Amino acid sequence: MFSKVGRSLIWARPALTRNVHYGVRVVSNPRLSSEEVYAREERYGAHNYHPLPVALERAQGLHMWDVEGKRYYDFLSAYSAVNQGHCHPKIIAALNNQASKLTLTSRAFYNDVLGEYEELVTTLFGYHKVLPMNTGVEAGETACKLARKWAYKVKHVPENKARIIFANGNFWGRTMAAISSSTDPSSYEGFGPFMPGFDLVPYNNLPALEQVLQNPNVAAFMMEPIQGEAGVVVPDPGYLTGVRELCTKHNVLFIADEVQTGLARTGRRLAVDHEAVRPDLVMLGKALSGGVYPVSAVLCDDEVMLTIKPGEHGSTYGGNPLGCRVAIAALEVLEDEKLAENAERMGQLLRTELEKLPSEVVTTVRGKGLLNAIVIKETKDYNAWKVCLRLRDNGLLAKPTHGDIIRLAPPLIIKEEEVRECVDIIQKTILSF
Ligand SMILES: Cc1ncc(COP(=O)(O)O)c(C=O)c1O
Repeated sequence: MFSKVGRSLIWARPALTRNVHYGVRVVSNPRLSSEEVYAREERYGAHNYHPLPVALERAQGLHMWDVEGKRYYDFLSAYSAVNQGHCHPKIIAALNNQASKLTLTSRAFYNDVLGEYEELVTTLFGYHKVLPMNTGVEAGETACKLARKWAYKVKHVPENKARIIFANGNFWGRTMAAISSSTDPSSYEGFGPFMPGFDLVPYNNLPALEQVLQNPNVAAFMMEPIQGEAGVVVPDPGYLTGVRELCTKHNVLFIADEVQTGLARTGRRLAVDHEAVRPDLVMLGKALSGGVYPVSAVLCDDEVMLTIKPGEHGSTYGGNPLGCRVAIAALEVLEDEKLAENAERMGQLLRTELEKLPSEVVTTVRGKGLLNAIVIKETKDYNAWKVCLRLRDNGLLAKPTHGDIIRLAPPLIIKEEEVRECVDIIQKTILSF
């Protein structure tokens, strides 16, 4: 364990140190200030993120507290991972109970939780099978591998000719495959050469999709029902239905990336439920564990799933009993607490109130359920980053994206009074510019 002496961290031998318990810092030492937290990360961590300056120490439900004890409303929900609210007691209890019993077996052996989770998740979403992984990007990799295998085994695409189509503005993570399909230079620049076999089409454009689907070697179209990282881009009504029809017509798999939009975030269990379409593959992650543990999944039917044989795909931690118990609890909370219904109602209220903001500053309000964004008209005096800093000062945490967009996505447990209080904070902040 580490003990803090002056400003440097040294390795402390437990037997020689007072007030030290395994995994806990020396309590008699002064706690770090926010500034010290930033400085330490800056000094020892890679600079692959640009966090908003706030140093968080604990969270519960809708709120987070910084190291100085200041309380904030969380309007990011860890990019929609904390749909159920921070440290949901039922999910934490599941974690704690399972943690002292059995955490990891690897898939070399069976465990008594995986099947229970598999039965629940497949029944809930109506697919034959699930393939468990850990992070959202691994769900994307898994979906791409399944699509390629299906293309060769079932569709009879010539070997190594399979193509997967993505939409401009997509975001599904940071692996080599994910950045190979990206149209965002900050994702791909300087990381080539890229994965072959990927094509791009404009988002929300059915004629462009139909054109590219003419190629008989296309295995799949992978898309987000609402593009989250692109800035909460909501496609026109009918787009999802059109995608389903075109994929069916051209014998192409429809992969819905519901890692951010799924699990009640947009006011439905899945965002594709808004148009009652059934994708061939569904990717889930983030809120599948309520922000407690990395759990992701791909759901599909046997025709696709059973093309992958033992040894052809997997992960040491994928399907581990701890993650499965957490995911069971996280799914039960979403259903028991009717969080999709709440997201739908609170989202309507939030957008109605946000639309009253002065249009000289907030040019657009968009979203579905509790996945929303406002677009800030940038001037020399303010931009989305500055608005977020002032929101933080006023007790609400949100993160800018693409310079002028602020995503507003609180945990789905938010109630009407809390929405109104948060709208007051946002209004006061915007009017202060
Ligand atoms: C739509 C979508 N897919 C996939 C991912 C990747 O998830 P992860 O960061 O857990 O790998 C993200 C992350 O933001 C996402 O928004």
